[in-house]
Amino acid sequence: MARIAHLSDIHFGANDPNIVAATIDWVNDKQPDLVIISGDLTQRAREGQFQDAAEYLRSLRENGHRLLVIPGNHDIPLYDVFRRFLSPLGRYKRHIAEDLCPWVETDEAAVLGINTARSLTIKDGRINEEQMQLIRQRFKGVAPDKTRILVTHHPLFALPIGWGNELSEAVGRHEDALQAIADAGIHLTLAGHFHRTYAEAASKMVAKAGPTLVIQAGTATSTRLRNQEPQSFNWLHVEQGNRMELQVIVWNGEEFQRASHVGFSLEGEQWHSEELSTEERATGDFPGVKAPIAAADR
Ligand SMILES: [Fe+2]
Ligand SMILES: [Fe+2]
Repeated sequence: MARIAHLSDIHFGANDPNIVAATIDWVNDKQPDLVIISGDLTQRAREGQFQDAAEYLRSLRENGHRLLVIPGNHDIPLYDVFRRFLSPLGRYKRHIAEDLCPWVETDEAAVLGINTARSLTIKDGRINEEQMQLIRQRFKGVAPDKTRILVTHHPLFALPIGWGNELSEAVGRHEDALQAIADAGIHLTLAGHFHRTYAEAASKMVAKAGPTLVIQAGTATSTRLRNQEPQSFNWLHVEQGNRMELQVIVWNGEEFQRASHVGFSLEGEQWHSEELSTEERATGDFPGVKAPIAAADR
């Protein structure tokens, strides 16, 4: 079994230092096999914000943690137009990582990150033909009993983002992207960007995506919240591509606490879910966390 902490939207420049420190303490305490950070490390891609983000990653690495990190749309400068178009991810590459599509393989899981941030769109993401080929190639030789995980900043699927039935934009070229993830037999797609937690079988959203479970992380540390959903991250335990548990770890104002714990099993091409326990649910009312998780089939 692989134990994975999935954090997203750290947003140095608009985050809470106490919550930032609490994420490090939590990760040090739990010792995940892998820490995934799915983009928006900074608020405005400024030099000082990247320095703070690099320091954060350094402190995780110095504590022995293995990381997989990708950029988000906020890691491209917005107002500095020259830099935005001439060197959109220059600072990211200098401070964080040269590799925009990192790959990690452990005994139990194979994980590919894909950069969906572009200069030509302000918020929306894209995936290109070369990246779709990379998805197919990377997972080709992976043993069948390993969990195959694809990480993007922008969700590959249109997702509910408001309290009603409002759906987000899916990533650009998402039809082709869905074919690529079906071809690669991806079990889990992890993303962030909307600062909203969500989990659902892809087969309930689109006709063809293969046996994929869609998992969205909220913002781990940003002070900019969607619908007042508190800061959170996801704690995943994955087994052999056909069984996983998701615990949503939520900031309750003082500390991180478990808010939801859902198990998923893959039968054929369909993920089924069951709520595992609620006794440790965080105090207070967090409808933004409960509602999306509750949307999953059980
Ligand atoms: Fe964000
Ligand atoms: Fe974003």
